[in-house]
Amino acid sequence: MATYLPPFRNQSPYLPFGEQRTGRFYGKDILSVKQFNRSDLEYIFGVAHEMREMVERIGTFDLLKGKILANLFYEPSTRTSSSFTSAMERLGGSVIPINEVRYSSVAKGESLPDTVRTLECYADVIVLRHPEIGASALAAQYARKPIINAGDGVGEHPTQALLDLFTIVGELNHVDGLTVTMLGDLKYGRTVHSLARLLSLYDVRLNYVSPEILKMPSEIIAELDEKGIVQKEYTSLESVLPYTDVLYVTRVQKERFENQDEYESVKGAYVITPAIMQDAKDRMIVMHPLPRVGEISLEFDQDPRAAYFRQMEYGLYVRMALLAMVLGRA
Ligand code: CP
Repeated sequence: MATYLPPFRNQSPYLPFGEQRTGRFYGKDILSVKQFNRSDLEYIFGVAHEMREMVERIGTFDLLKGKILANLFYEPSTRTSSSFTSAMERLGGSVIPINEVRYSSVAKGESLPDTVRTLECYADVIVLRHPEIGASALAAQYARKPIINAGDGVGEHPTQALLDLFTIVGELNHVDGLTVTMLGDLKYGRTVHSLARLLSLYDVRLNYVSPEILKMPSEIIAELDEKGIVQKEYTSLESVLPYTDVLYVTRVQKERFENQDEYESVKGAYVITPAIMQDAKDRMIVMHPLPRVGEISLEFDQDPRAAYFRQMEYGLYVRMALLAMVLGRA
């Protein structure tokens, strides 16, 4: 007898008899921040807030008991990979970890579509990090189960942007009216590409501070211009720091450079120190997607404005919310 495979998502062939699953994200891919509006964000953050309360009260609970996540990472990761693992396990589910594809059949030449079609036989949702722009969108064309983009080359990192925004809301209570300054590698840093787009849903002012060769891509600036977002570019932090509410620092992405001499010429362009931060507001935050490689000095870590370690914890709650939502339990 032929095995029945569902041709479309949301037909719920996997549900136990009588069980209903709903929600605006049920069965959906998370591929780009472009798919979200403000109402979506309020919904996600509401669920993330509930996740935080549950973790603080009881730690682990069985919302996704029996569900399986496949973590498929073609590039290194500490935070994204382990926070999705933690998120799934705190929700009572389990994880297939493929954090090193060279020990998988990818090393034998298996294509991304085939790898995804394999993993979805065993898992209910796939989190994918890949070095090529558009890899998650490609995977989603072949997959019947939801694909969550955990970074596609220099393209996007939508779940990072969601957790970044959740951090801003958690730390400063609002987004409208803020001045956000992005610093460092704005060309290759996918986190700033996603965050700038997500922030464009709000009334914000964006400053981009980078070396000349690492400027924010012109297509993103044009996209945000069309939405009326005030954006200014600088090569020095000095003039904008005193007016900044969120300083979003990024690592210069050594692995993306074709010319290593170019990397050497910009790698230490900016270093945030307690002395530099004397010019910043008392009520502001410094964020970083991490890892850092020298662009924020360790001496600044004790400053209450240093939000980058808290930012990682906010990420757990957002990723719990996303998993619960795409699996129809929120
Ligand atoms: N912020 C982030 O994506 O970190 P990892 O590369 O460690 O996942």
